[in-house]
Amino acid sequence: MNKKRVLSGIQPTGRLHLGNLIGAVENWVELQKEYDCHFFIADFHALTTAYAETKTLKDDIREVAIDLLSAGIDPDKCVLFKQSDVPEHAELHLIFSMITPLPWLERVPTYKSKIAELKEKDLGTYGFLGYPVLQAADILIYKANLVPVGEDQLPHLELTREIARRFNFLYKEVFPEPKAALTKFPVLPGTDGRKMSKSYQNTIAISDPPETVRKKVGIMVTDPARIKREDKGHPDVCPVYAYYKVFAKERTEAVAKDCRSAARGCVECKKELAGILADYLAPIHARRKKLEADPAYLEKVLAAGAAKARQSAAQTLLEAKKAVGLA
Ligand code: TRP
Ligand code: SF4
Repeated sequence: MNKKRVLSGIQPTGRLHLGNLIGAVENWVELQKEYDCHFFIADFHALTTAYAETKTLKDDIREVAIDLLSAGIDPDKCVLFKQSDVPEHAELHLIFSMITPLPWLERVPTYKSKIAELKEKDLGTYGFLGYPVLQAADILIYKANLVPVGEDQLPHLELTREIARRFNFLYKEVFPEPKAALTKFPVLPGTDGRKMSKSYQNTIAISDPPETVRKKVGIMVTDPARIKREDKGHPDVCPVYAYYKVFAKERTEAVAKDCRSAARGCVECKKELAGILADYLAPIHARRKKLEADPAYLEKVLAAGAAKARQSAAQTLLEAKKAVGLA
């Protein structure tokens, strides 16, 4: 078996939304058909920012697992697990923390920007500074070749390569340098027209029932130039139209034409979109319902995933410890 190994993780911070689905998870679903894929729920990483509010963590982890499985992640085709079930990540992180110079971490662009963005939280912690070191351990413990991530994660990937090089230079050639596999998908706008993100509260969750989807689509911003029904529209600046481009390509031409001539109103346009999204999400909701009814299955999947992940993780860790002189 010499399939390339793919690894990616997602933090359990709230329900998966359409932006995650289109931007990441659908890509994972494709990758699992061709590659040796490892996908995990980054619960240790969630603690770097949510350490003071962990009451919902256990449920959040469960929900993300259900979201992933309902979106088509197939435990027969990939290894799905939860990060903290594989303690080797933490042990390798510790070793890496010894060889990572502080300035490398302080200059990661997300470090300062996140602290500014989440100013209500105290992120002046050791763990938060070390976020990318843990991510490097996540990736290198599986000797992953490809890491599908969004553009915002590129500095973390670069740091991962730097840590790999430094380890290999100081001790022994243990870690291959992973490559990012950028997801080229356009960013899906949220209901307010900004990037869809949990922190903006503008998301449509993949688990939202049709009624909620209809309400959220109903309040979406559209072309600001269309004040009256007769005003001609500009689909290219309209977030609703951006959804047609993703979820109903075959309708885009007609919708754009009727928007430009004002033959179509925004209320009608949104109503059609809500129906399209409900159809798109129906099979996902059906799978979710089954998963919710069978908690034992979910536990079994995650336990089997962790057991499998630990086999490769333990092997790499031993190799790393030998290289350092710890084993
Ligand atoms: N930092 C990633 C994010 O916020 C999540 C993550 C943690 C990850 N470890 C990873 C992604 C390893 C890829 C590989 O999206
Ligand atoms: Fe947007 Fe549709 Fe309204 Fe045109 S008709 S502005 S595409 S919602």
